[in-house]
Amino acid sequence: AKTILSGIQPSGLLTIGNYLGAMQHFVRLQDEADCYFCIVDYHAITLPQDPQELKENIRRLAALYLAVGLDPQKVTLFVQSDVPEHTELGWIMICQSHMGELERMTQYKDKSKKLKSIPVGLFTYPALQAADILLYQATHVPVGEDQKQHIELTRDLAERFNHRYGEVFVIPEPMIASFGARIMSLDDPTTKMSKSNPNENSYISMLDEPKVIEKKIKRAVTDSGHEIRFDPEEKAAISNLMTIYGQFTGQTMEEVEQHFKGCGYGQFKKELAEVVIDSLRPIQEKYREIYPSSELDRVLEEGAQKAREKAQQTLAKVKQALGVGLK
Ligand code: TYM
Repeated sequence: AKTILSGIQPSGLLTIGNYLGAMQHFVRLQDEADCYFCIVDYHAITLPQDPQELKENIRRLAALYLAVGLDPQKVTLFVQSDVPEHTELGWIMICQSHMGELERMTQYKDKSKKLKSIPVGLFTYPALQAADILLYQATHVPVGEDQKQHIELTRDLAERFNHRYGEVFVIPEPMIASFGARIMSLDDPTTKMSKSNPNENSYISMLDEPKVIEKKIKRAVTDSGHEIRFDPEEKAAISNLMTIYGQFTGQTMEEVEQHFKGCGYGQFKKELAEVVIDSLRPIQEKYREIYPSSELDRVLEEGAQKAREKAQQTLAKVKQALGVGLK
């Protein structure tokens, strides 16, 4: 049977990139596999967070997980810091990691080059991510393209551990959609859409109001020429917007091209805004219901309990294999 684990950082409002690259697949997978979905707050603190905002972002993310259609009867939804086994195995995985392989992580390189002084947690972060995955013996990890390297590292660390100490870990496979796994910024189609981008016009948040979505799409950069043609090399900006359109409508790029044959960028952007607004509306409505409910607290408490049972089993095996502890 398949076991799935994935996580999202509560470090800001989720973007449609997070949704199209990851969350929409979680919803589909809940009927096929044993699923664990995590709000990775210990990952978020690798960079300083305002405590009150972090609390709020954790709750927002939890409410969004449910609003997009995850069913707590089917999946285990929990907050990472509620399951202390993550940091415990995280340390153990740090001890399996080599400086060189962590230095090669592109996310680390990108984030650290913008900083004068680099927090150590930013560097060791992928070892904690490996622990998140390995604790649940996940067979598959659905993520966007940017996380591929972290999943490959997880595999290397798990194989190294198994080789040294005996077969404890299941080796997980990344699950990356062939399409929509890398949504780009609206203001620059060469950088990925990201919730941590200081320019709010570069992304569409899952909770943006219709007017804001309309404005952001209107402002999105386009390419020279005027046709709606899918060509990521020559027409990167339009191809990105077409990808968003196709993902929300379930259409292929040929179908999108066909649909907009003879139309200009203006008409295309108008319809794209409508599609995004209409797709997000039911999610936003549900979100507003769930966010203040005590039901949400109950789901997370039960989720943490269920996650902990599984995590404890794996950690006990790991400690046994390593020889740490009294028993
Ligand atoms: P995070 O919080 O940056 O992103 C959450 C998920 O969204 C995907 N994603 C995108 N997909 C398409 N286009 C984009 N522009 C885009 N931006 C983000 C990410 O690939 C991810 O799937 N380190 C992880 C969180 C994590 C995790 C884990 C993931 C911690 N532990 C264990 C899987 C398994 C991260 O920072 O994701």
